[in-house]
Amino acid sequence: MNKKEKILVTGAAGQIGSELTPLLRERYGNIQVIASDIKTDIPSDLKDSGPFEHLDVLSNERLFEVVKKHRITLIFHMSAILSASGEQNPQHAWKVNIEGTRNILEISKDSEVKKLFIPSSIAAFGPSTPREDTPQETILRPNTVYGITKVAGELLSNYYVARYKLDVRGCRYPGIISHKTLPGGGTTDYAVAIFYEAVRKKTYTCFVNKETMLPMMYMPDCLKATLDLMDANFKKLQHHADFNVAGMSFKVHELAREIKKHIPDFTISYEPDYRQKIADTWPRTIDDSAARQEWGWEPEYDLSSMTEDMLKELRRRHQESGL
Ligand code: SER
Repeated sequence: MNKKEKILVTGAAGQIGSELTPLLRERYGNIQVIASDIKTDIPSDLKDSGPFEHLDVLSNERLFEVVKKHRITLIFHMSAILSASGEQNPQHAWKVNIEGTRNILEISKDSEVKKLFIPSSIAAFGPSTPREDTPQETILRPNTVYGITKVAGELLSNYYVARYKLDVRGCRYPGIISHKTLPGGGTTDYAVAIFYEAVRKKTYTCFVNKETMLPMMYMPDCLKATLDLMDANFKKLQHHADFNVAGMSFKVHELAREIKKHIPDFTISYEPDYRQKIADTWPRTIDDSAARQEWGWEPEYDLSSMTEDMLKELRRRHQESGL
Protein backbone atom coordinates (compact mmCIF):
# COMPACT_ATOMS: atom_id res chain seq x y z
CA MET A 1 0.00 0.00 0.00
CA ASN A 2 1.52 3.35 -0.87
CA LYS A 3 1.62 6.45 1.30
CA LYS A 4 -0.73 8.47 -0.87
CA GLU A 5 -3.70 6.15 -0.42
CA LYS A 6 -6.92 7.68 0.88
CA ILE A 7 -8.30 4.99 3.13
CA LEU A 8 -11.86 4.40 4.32
CA VAL A 9 -12.53 2.12 7.28
CA THR A 10 -16.13 0.98 7.75
CA GLY A 11 -17.11 -0.27 11.19
CA ALA A 12 -14.22 1.79 12.57
CA ALA A 13 -15.66 1.79 16.10
CA GLY A 14 -15.99 -2.00 16.20
CA GLN A 15 -13.67 -4.53 17.82
CA ILE A 16 -11.17 -4.69 14.95
CA GLY A 17 -11.84 -1.26 13.40
CA SER A 18 -11.07 0.55 16.65
CA GLU A 19 -7.52 -0.82 16.62
CA LEU A 20 -6.97 -0.98 12.87
CA THR A 21 -7.86 2.70 12.34
CA PRO A 22 -5.20 4.14 14.72
CA LEU A 23 -2.61 1.79 13.26
CA LEU A 24 -3.43 2.94 9.72
CA ARG A 25 -3.32 6.58 10.86
CA GLU A 26 0.11 5.97 12.34
CA ARG A 27 1.31 4.42 9.07
CA TYR A 28 -0.34 6.69 6.51
CA GLY A 29 -1.03 9.93 8.39
CA ASN A 30 -4.15 10.95 10.29
CA ILE A 31 -5.86 12.82 7.47
CA GLN A 32 -5.34 9.98 5.00
CA VAL A 33 -7.55 7.61 6.99
CA ILE A 34 -11.30 8.26 7.14
CA ALA A 35 -12.99 6.42 9.98
CA SER A 36 -16.69 5.63 9.53
CA ASP A 37 -19.34 3.85 11.54
CA ILE A 38 -23.11 3.61 11.88
CA LYS A 39 -22.72 4.26 15.61
CA THR A 40 -23.02 7.80 16.87
CA ASP A 41 -21.32 7.24 20.21
CA ILE A 42 -17.74 7.21 18.94
CA PRO A 43 -14.75 7.18 21.32
CA SER A 44 -13.00 10.53 21.26
CA ASP A 45 -9.58 9.08 20.36
CA LEU A 46 -11.07 7.84 17.08
CA LYS A 47 -13.10 10.93 16.34
CA ASP A 48 -10.46 13.50 17.25
CA SER A 49 -7.43 11.89 15.64
CA GLY A 50 -8.65 12.27 12.04
CA PRO A 51 -11.69 12.54 9.75
CA PHE A 52 -14.84 10.71 10.81
CA GLU A 53 -18.00 10.11 8.75
CA HIS A 54 -21.25 8.78 10.07
CA LEU A 55 -22.05 6.00 7.59
CA ASP A 56 -24.58 3.23 7.15
CA VAL A 57 -23.17 0.85 4.52
CA LEU A 58 -26.74 0.11 3.41
CA SER A 59 -27.10 3.68 2.18
CA ASN A 60 -25.66 3.69 -1.31
CA GLU A 61 -25.98 7.44 -1.71
CA ARG A 62 -24.17 8.22 1.50
CA LEU A 63 -21.47 5.68 0.72
CA PHE A 64 -20.99 7.22 -2.73
CA GLU A 65 -20.86 10.70 -1.21
CA VAL A 66 -18.17 9.72 1.30
CA VAL A 67 -16.06 7.85 -1.28
CA LYS A 68 -16.24 10.79 -3.73
CA LYS A 69 -15.72 13.51 -1.14
CA HIS A 70 -12.50 11.97 0.17
CA ARG A 71 -11.39 10.48 -3.15
CA ILE A 72 -11.03 7.11 -1.47
CA THR A 73 -8.59 4.65 -3.09
CA LEU A 74 -8.59 1.85 -0.53
CA ILE A 75 -11.29 0.40 1.75
CA PHE A 76 -11.17 -1.80 4.84
CA HIS A 77 -14.76 -3.02 5.11
CA MET A 78 -14.98 -4.03 8.76
CA SER A 79 -18.67 -3.56 9.48
CA ALA A 80 -20.69 -6.76 9.87
CA ILE A 81 -23.25 -8.51 12.03
CA LEU A 82 -21.59 -11.47 13.79
CA SER A 83 -22.80 -15.05 14.21
CA ALA A 84 -24.80 -14.95 17.45
CA SER A 85 -26.51 -11.63 16.65
CA GLY A 86 -27.15 -12.97 13.16
CA GLU A 87 -29.14 -15.88 14.58
CA GLN A 88 -31.23 -13.41 16.61
CA ASN A 89 -32.10 -11.39 13.52
CA PRO A 90 -31.23 -13.27 10.31
CA GLN A 91 -32.91 -10.74 7.98
CA HIS A 92 -30.87 -7.88 9.38
CA ALA A 93 -27.63 -9.92 9.22
CA TRP A 94 -28.36 -10.79 5.59
CA LYS A 95 -28.97 -7.14 4.75
CA VAL A 96 -25.91 -5.69 6.43
CA ASN A 97 -23.50 -8.44 5.42
CA ILE A 98 -24.72 -9.12 1.88
CA GLU A 99 -26.11 -5.80 0.70
CA GLY A 100 -23.50 -3.81 2.59
CA THR A 101 -20.68 -5.82 1.02
CA ARG A 102 -22.21 -5.62 -2.45
CA ASN A 103 -22.62 -1.83 -2.08
CA ILE A 104 -18.97 -1.51 -1.12
CA LEU A 105 -17.86 -3.60 -4.11
CA GLU A 106 -20.13 -1.79 -6.57
CA ILE A 107 -19.04 1.66 -5.46
CA SER A 108 -15.41 0.57 -5.63
CA LYS A 109 -15.85 -0.67 -9.18
CA ASP A 110 -17.31 2.70 -10.22
CA SER A 111 -14.86 5.00 -8.40
CA GLU A 112 -11.15 5.51 -7.77
CA VAL A 113 -11.05 2.66 -5.25
CA LYS A 114 -8.45 0.14 -6.40
CA LYS A 115 -8.03 -2.14 -3.45
CA LEU A 116 -10.23 -3.51 -0.66
CA PHE A 117 -10.04 -5.70 2.39
CA ILE A 118 -13.24 -7.66 3.03
CA PRO A 119 -12.92 -10.11 5.91
CA SER A 120 -14.37 -13.58 5.99
CA SER A 121 -14.48 -15.88 9.00
CA ILE A 122 -14.13 -19.45 10.27
CA ALA A 123 -17.94 -19.25 10.22
CA ALA A 124 -17.71 -19.91 6.46
CA PHE A 125 -17.22 -23.57 7.41
CA GLY A 126 -20.01 -25.81 8.61
CA PRO A 127 -20.93 -29.16 10.14
CA SER A 128 -19.75 -31.18 7.13
CA THR A 129 -16.32 -29.48 6.98
CA PRO A 130 -13.37 -31.44 8.45
CA ARG A 131 -12.84 -29.88 11.88
CA GLU A 132 -9.18 -30.72 12.43
CA ASP A 133 -6.62 -28.84 10.37
CA THR A 134 -9.43 -27.50 8.20
CA PRO A 135 -7.96 -27.19 4.69
CA GLN A 136 -7.93 -24.07 2.55
CA GLU A 137 -10.07 -25.78 -0.07
CA THR A 138 -12.87 -27.66 1.59
CA ILE A 139 -16.63 -27.97 2.03
CA LEU A 140 -18.31 -24.58 2.64
CA ARG A 141 -21.80 -25.41 3.84
CA PRO A 142 -22.35 -23.25 6.96
CA ASN A 143 -25.66 -23.40 8.80
CA THR A 144 -25.65 -19.92 10.35
CA VAL A 145 -26.85 -16.89 8.42
CA TYR A 146 -23.58 -15.16 9.28
CA GLY A 147 -21.61 -18.05 7.77
CA ILE A 148 -23.77 -18.05 4.66
CA THR A 149 -23.15 -14.32 4.18
CA LYS A 150 -19.41 -14.85 4.66
CA VAL A 151 -19.26 -17.57 1.97
CA ALA A 152 -21.23 -15.32 -0.37
CA GLY A 153 -18.91 -12.41 0.48
CA GLU A 154 -15.83 -14.50 -0.38
CA LEU A 155 -17.31 -15.66 -3.67
CA LEU A 156 -18.55 -12.21 -4.63
CA SER A 157 -15.19 -10.62 -3.77
CA ASN A 158 -13.36 -13.21 -5.88
CA TYR A 159 -15.84 -12.53 -8.66
CA TYR A 160 -15.01 -8.80 -8.63
CA VAL A 161 -11.30 -9.67 -8.83
CA ALA A 162 -11.81 -11.83 -11.91
CA ARG A 163 -14.54 -9.84 -13.63
CA TYR A 164 -13.68 -6.20 -12.83
CA LYS A 165 -9.97 -6.44 -11.96
CA LEU A 166 -10.64 -4.96 -8.52
CA ASP A 167 -7.98 -5.99 -6.01
CA VAL A 168 -10.09 -7.52 -3.22
CA ARG A 169 -8.39 -9.40 -0.39
CA GLY A 170 -9.59 -11.07 2.75
CA CYS A 171 -8.94 -13.77 5.28
CA ARG A 172 -11.09 -16.07 7.35
CA TYR A 173 -10.54 -14.52 10.75
CA PRO A 174 -10.68 -16.87 13.73
CA GLY A 175 -12.18 -15.57 16.99
CA ILE A 176 -10.35 -12.32 17.76
CA ILE A 177 -9.20 -11.67 21.32
CA SER A 178 -8.55 -8.07 22.33
CA HIS A 179 -8.71 -5.64 25.25
CA LYS A 180 -9.61 -2.29 23.70
CA THR A 181 -13.15 -2.74 22.35
CA LEU A 182 -15.46 -5.62 23.20
CA PRO A 183 -16.66 -7.79 20.35
CA GLY A 184 -20.40 -7.69 19.86
CA GLY A 185 -22.63 -10.66 19.18
CA GLY A 186 -20.10 -13.33 18.23
CA THR A 187 -19.87 -16.97 19.27
CA THR A 188 -16.19 -16.58 20.15
CA ASP A 189 -16.91 -13.64 22.51
CA TYR A 190 -16.41 -15.92 25.54
CA ALA A 191 -12.66 -15.89 24.89
CA VAL A 192 -12.68 -12.12 25.51
CA ALA A 193 -15.35 -11.95 28.24
CA ILE A 194 -13.45 -14.50 30.36
CA PHE A 195 -10.53 -12.06 30.74
CA TYR A 196 -12.72 -9.09 31.70
CA GLU A 197 -14.56 -11.16 34.29
CA ALA A 198 -11.36 -12.75 35.59
CA VAL A 199 -9.92 -9.29 36.30
CA ARG A 200 -13.21 -7.84 37.59
CA LYS A 201 -14.68 -10.72 39.59
CA LYS A 202 -12.26 -13.67 39.45
CA THR A 203 -15.06 -15.85 38.17
CA TYR A 204 -16.74 -16.46 34.81
CA THR A 205 -19.77 -18.40 33.61
CA CYS A 206 -19.06 -19.60 30.10
CA PHE A 207 -21.81 -19.99 27.46
CA VAL A 208 -20.07 -22.94 25.75
CA ASN A 209 -18.85 -26.13 27.45
CA LYS A 210 -15.34 -26.76 28.75
CA GLU A 211 -14.30 -29.01 25.85
CA THR A 212 -15.18 -26.43 23.18
CA MET A 213 -12.14 -25.75 21.04
CA LEU A 214 -12.10 -23.03 18.39
CA PRO A 215 -9.40 -21.22 16.41
CA MET A 216 -8.51 -17.86 18.00
CA MET A 217 -6.11 -15.02 17.34
CA TYR A 218 -4.77 -12.16 19.44
CA MET A 219 -5.45 -8.68 18.08
CA PRO A 220 -1.79 -7.81 17.24
CA ASP A 221 -1.71 -10.89 15.00
CA CYS A 222 -5.09 -9.99 13.50
CA LEU A 223 -3.77 -6.54 12.56
CA LYS A 224 -0.56 -8.06 11.25
CA ALA A 225 -2.47 -10.57 9.10
CA THR A 226 -4.67 -7.79 7.72
CA LEU A 227 -1.83 -5.45 6.80
CA ASP A 228 0.55 -8.19 5.61
CA LEU A 229 -2.11 -9.50 3.25
CA MET A 230 -2.82 -5.99 1.96
CA ASP A 231 0.92 -5.40 1.43
CA ALA A 232 1.46 -8.68 -0.43
CA ASN A 233 2.43 -8.72 -4.09
CA PHE A 234 -0.78 -9.27 -6.07
CA LYS A 235 1.08 -11.40 -8.61
CA LYS A 236 2.00 -13.90 -5.91
CA LEU A 237 -1.60 -14.42 -4.78
CA GLN A 238 -3.48 -17.44 -6.02
CA HIS A 239 -6.27 -16.86 -3.51
CA HIS A 240 -7.82 -13.49 -2.84
CA ALA A 241 -10.68 -13.03 -0.38
CA ASP A 242 -10.70 -16.39 1.41
CA PHE A 243 -7.36 -17.09 3.10
CA ASN A 244 -7.34 -19.42 6.09
CA VAL A 245 -5.27 -17.85 8.88
CA ALA A 246 -4.48 -19.52 12.19
CA GLY A 247 -3.22 -18.11 15.46
CA MET A 248 -3.90 -20.59 18.26
CA SER A 249 -6.53 -23.15 19.25
CA PHE A 250 -7.49 -24.07 22.80
CA LYS A 251 -10.28 -25.69 24.78
CA VAL A 252 -12.08 -23.40 27.22
CA HIS A 253 -10.74 -25.29 30.25
CA GLU A 254 -7.19 -24.86 28.89
CA LEU A 255 -7.75 -21.11 28.67
CA ALA A 256 -9.11 -21.13 32.25
CA ARG A 257 -6.04 -23.05 33.43
CA GLU A 258 -3.76 -20.50 31.76
CA ILE A 259 -5.61 -17.63 33.47
CA LYS A 260 -5.32 -19.43 36.82
CA LYS A 261 -1.53 -19.30 36.50
CA HIS A 262 -1.89 -15.51 36.92
CA ILE A 263 -5.05 -15.40 39.08
CA PRO A 264 -4.87 -18.56 41.24
CA ASP A 265 -8.35 -18.16 42.76
CA PHE A 266 -10.07 -17.71 39.38
CA THR A 267 -13.04 -20.06 38.94
CA ILE A 268 -15.13 -20.97 35.91
CA SER A 269 -18.53 -22.61 35.47
CA TYR A 270 -20.40 -23.59 32.32
CA GLU A 271 -23.92 -22.84 31.15
CA PRO A 272 -23.98 -23.63 27.43
CA ASP A 273 -26.68 -21.84 25.43
CA TYR A 274 -27.63 -21.61 21.72
CA ARG A 275 -24.10 -20.52 20.87
CA GLN A 276 -22.82 -24.03 21.70
CA LYS A 277 -24.56 -25.33 18.60
CA ILE A 278 -22.84 -22.73 16.45
CA ALA A 279 -19.42 -23.47 17.97
CA ASP A 280 -19.91 -27.20 17.34
CA THR A 281 -20.11 -26.59 13.58
CA TRP A 282 -16.84 -24.65 13.33
CA PRO A 283 -13.25 -25.93 12.94
CA ARG A 284 -11.08 -26.79 15.94
CA THR A 285 -7.81 -26.13 14.14
CA ILE A 286 -6.96 -24.50 10.82
CA ASP A 287 -4.47 -25.27 8.08
CA ASP A 288 -3.16 -21.89 6.93
CA SER A 289 -0.38 -23.09 4.63
CA ALA A 290 -1.73 -21.15 1.62
CA ALA A 291 -1.42 -17.85 3.57
CA ARG A 292 2.07 -18.87 4.72
CA GLN A 293 3.17 -19.70 1.18
CA GLU A 294 1.51 -16.87 -0.74
CA TRP A 295 2.21 -13.91 1.56
CA GLY A 296 4.43 -15.19 4.34
CA TRP A 297 1.84 -15.31 7.14
CA GLU A 298 3.21 -16.15 10.56
CA PRO A 299 1.51 -15.48 13.91
CA GLU A 300 3.45 -14.26 16.93
CA TYR A 301 1.20 -15.00 19.88
CA ASP A 302 0.32 -18.34 21.48
CA LEU A 303 -2.03 -19.07 24.37
CA SER A 304 0.50 -18.25 27.06
CA SER A 305 1.87 -14.98 25.60
CA MET A 306 -1.64 -13.78 24.68
CA THR A 307 -2.97 -14.51 28.18
CA GLU A 308 -0.08 -12.73 29.85
CA ASP A 309 -0.53 -9.62 27.71
CA MET A 310 -4.35 -9.53 27.99
CA LEU A 311 -4.20 -9.72 31.78
CA LYS A 312 -1.45 -7.13 32.02
CA GLU A 313 -3.44 -4.64 29.91
CA LEU A 314 -6.80 -5.27 31.58
CA ARG A 315 -5.36 -5.11 35.09
CA ARG A 316 -3.73 -1.80 34.27
CA ARG A 317 -7.02 -0.42 32.96
CA HIS A 318 -8.96 -1.85 35.87
CA GLN A 319 -6.65 -0.08 38.32
CA GLU A 320 -6.70 3.19 36.40
CA SER A 321 -10.36 3.57 35.66
CA GLY A 322 -12.31 0.35 36.06
CA LEU A 323 -13.36 -1.80 33.10
N1 SER B 1 -15.90 -14.04 15.98
C1 SER B 1 -16.93 -14.34 15.01
C2 SER B 1 -18.16 -14.83 15.65
O1 SER B 1 -18.05 -15.47 16.66
C3 SER B 1 -16.43 -15.36 14.04
O2 SER B 1 -16.03 -14.72 12.90
O3 SER B 1 -19.21 -14.63 15.14
